[in-house]
Amino acid sequence: MTRSYITFRDLSREEYQEIFHRAAQLKKDRRAGRYLHPHLAGRSVGMIFNKNSTRTRVSFEGAINELGGHPVVLAVKDTQMSRGEPPSHTARVLSRYLAGLVIRTYEEKELADLAAWASIPIINGLTNQQHPCQVLTDIFTLLETLGQARLEDQLVAWIGDGHNMANTWLEAAAVLGFGLHLACPSGYEPDRAIFQRAHSDNPRVKLFGSPKEAVKGARAVNTDVFVSMDQQAEAAQRLKDFQGYQVNSEIMALASPQAIFLHCLPAHVGEEVTEEVLESPASLVFEEAENRLHAQKALLEFLIPRL
Ligand code: CP
Ligand code: NVA
Repeated sequence: MTRSYITFRDLSREEYQEIFHRAAQLKKDRRAGRYLHPHLAGRSVGMIFNKNSTRTRVSFEGAINELGGHPVVLAVKDTQMSRGEPPSHTARVLSRYLAGLVIRTYEEKELADLAAWASIPIINGLTNQQHPCQVLTDIFTLLETLGQARLEDQLVAWIGDGHNMANTWLEAAAVLGFGLHLACPSGYEPDRAIFQRAHSDNPRVKLFGSPKEAVKGARAVNTDVFVSMDQQAEAAQRLKDFQGYQVNSEIMALASPQAIFLHCLPAHVGEEVTEEVLESPASLVFEEAENRLHAQKALLEFLIPRL
């Protein structure tokens, strides 16, 4: 059966445990100079971008290469998709060439439409609604700091925009069972249905009225830009409305003494986070960026059966 990865809920807790375990092995191997694990030998994996990317593009491209495969990277505007070729045709054509397809675009429905017709895994490289490869990596990064402590016993704080990253953290808390406290300005809360479902699956998922309340005791403090790629038109209003939602030293001081700071990057330093926090020892943002490579290798191995 072909498995796609469109939302965090597409995999189970046990499957995540397997992926985290494999990502740790792959990271250790790579650090020891063993880059090549030829799971995808001789095969090609596509990546289609309808928005900018640094990390997703380069980490997936490297991951596919280090798994012995060939990455085929396309901008939507260079494909016939931008001239109206329907997803039902595109998906069936690409399934005949590729072993998997990563796609970054606007609406989740575009991925669902491709997945309905594809016979290869479709992997969400970010939509307006979700960013599951990032949150997979973020949780792997948090796990690396926990030692013997259990993920389920941890509290994660989300401060800022209730957009794609926050929605995905909600789904992750539902699947993996950790506490999640969010503080978002009024009108910028996460998707209501995603929140309700996550809260009913895991009552430790809660919305707070202020960052100071949400961050109390958190083992990881997480934020994202105030203006995402699909929100450029609202930039001026957003920067006003997000006043008071910056992660700074005062906020970090209210979290657990062992708290780490996470950010998917790119960051707008001085807006959602201060330079002091981003560059502090608690900040794992560059480790987190590296971990995209390891986590996505493990994900590709999991989703694409070896021949
Ligand atoms: N975090 C992330 O997805 O970064 P890019 O936009 O650079 O891919
Ligand atoms: N929320 C951001 C994440 C970028 C990786 C965006 O969608 O632009």
